[in-house]
Amino acid sequence: MADQTPSATPSRSRRWFLGLGAALGSALAACRPTQAPPLEPRALGAPISPYGSRSRFEKATRFFRPTTIPEEASSRTPLGDTYGIITPSSLHFERHHGGVPDIDPATHTLTIHGLVERPIVFTVDEIKRLPSISRIFFLECSGNSASEWKGAAEVDVQRAHGLTSCSEWTGVWLSTLLRECAVRPNGTWILAEGADACKLARSIPIAKAMHDVLIAYGQNGEALRPEQGYPLRVIVPGWEGNVNVKWVRRIKVLDQPAMTRWETSKYTDLLADGSARQFTFDMDAKSVITRPSGGDRLAGAGIYEVTGLAWSGRGAIARVEVSADAGRTWTDATLQEPVLPRAHARFTWSWRWDGRDAILQSRCTDDTGYVQPPRTDLVAVRGLNSNYHNNAIQSWKIAADGSVTNGNV
Ligand code: CO
Repeated sequence: MADQTPSATPSRSRRWFLGLGAALGSALAACRPTQAPPLEPRALGAPISPYGSRSRFEKATRFFRPTTIPEEASSRTPLGDTYGIITPSSLHFERHHGGVPDIDPATHTLTIHGLVERPIVFTVDEIKRLPSISRIFFLECSGNSASEWKGAAEVDVQRAHGLTSCSEWTGVWLSTLLRECAVRPNGTWILAEGADACKLARSIPIAKAMHDVLIAYGQNGEALRPEQGYPLRVIVPGWEGNVNVKWVRRIKVLDQPAMTRWETSKYTDLLADGSARQFTFDMDAKSVITRPSGGDRLAGAGIYEVTGLAWSGRGAIARVEVSADAGRTWTDATLQEPVLPRAHARFTWSWRWDGRDAILQSRCTDDTGYVQPPRTDLVAVRGLNSNYHNNAIQSWKIAADGSVTNGNV
């Protein structure tokens, strides 16, 4: 992978400097190294505060459309305004089906029952006394990118693809709790139920539940936000957002899936022949360029850092390629460390724009060998009836005036 930091070797430093000068043009040429802007005397700054907040100059927010039922809506992460791989908890996307409950952790409990030898009611404090782990995982709504099934629809990357976020989650393995309850041999599924108004509930095979599912109470170093499931939520690494049940209050061990409304009338994928895919849990490998992206404007021909995110529900991202000619030729992008399984990975690519029309695309490959498909390939297999699981390649159109628009065809 190319190291783009300035190096100690004179020749390399000089190349870097010349490249930067060409990229930034007159802005750099006007700078005289011996002169710094005069420092004016200033009044004292703000005092210390009990809980931090961002600069008043930063404006990125979660996007949502005005709706008559805000408790049954979604908000989207401003992917074009985030750095690295962690999404700030305050900008993590939301999808609620019954509003955000206001839960006192002192009275909240998690009951595990059904096909177990010892049903147990856990308090939140009891769960926090068990061995904890922290892992970085993405969380993506299976309805993410649904607008793009028929070609360009949304104007920017947030509206088109902002139903994915990535956090460090802290909690206990669900397997620790299930072993304490002693699952009977005929226990092959679990049903996880939330404490929200609609009691959202999803079925998960016991093999996954015992493998890597978390009962999380922490997110990015602090308690879960209420809109992310405070005080307890299920984290199912790599699987569609809806099964990551928030405000979890009950887990029932079953010998078959419960067939809740959330896995029958919702979150199934209707195919062209009228049949439907059910229990499509894995989020397939996907990438998207986040800068430049729809709504941006390039300042003129020159060098730009193209950057974006890639992730796979089946493992780690192995490769991201970038194209500036609508997929006719591809170049490997640089993957920033760390590249973690079932987490967002950050990729970058230095692009010299010649000032002419261009179509920017990214295409990822995960460590199972799966390659992100063009939209036409996906539609050929799935048809156009389904809202869910659109992981097709995104195109951004760069016009000669520097404007960037959705270039999906
Ligand atoms: Co699905």
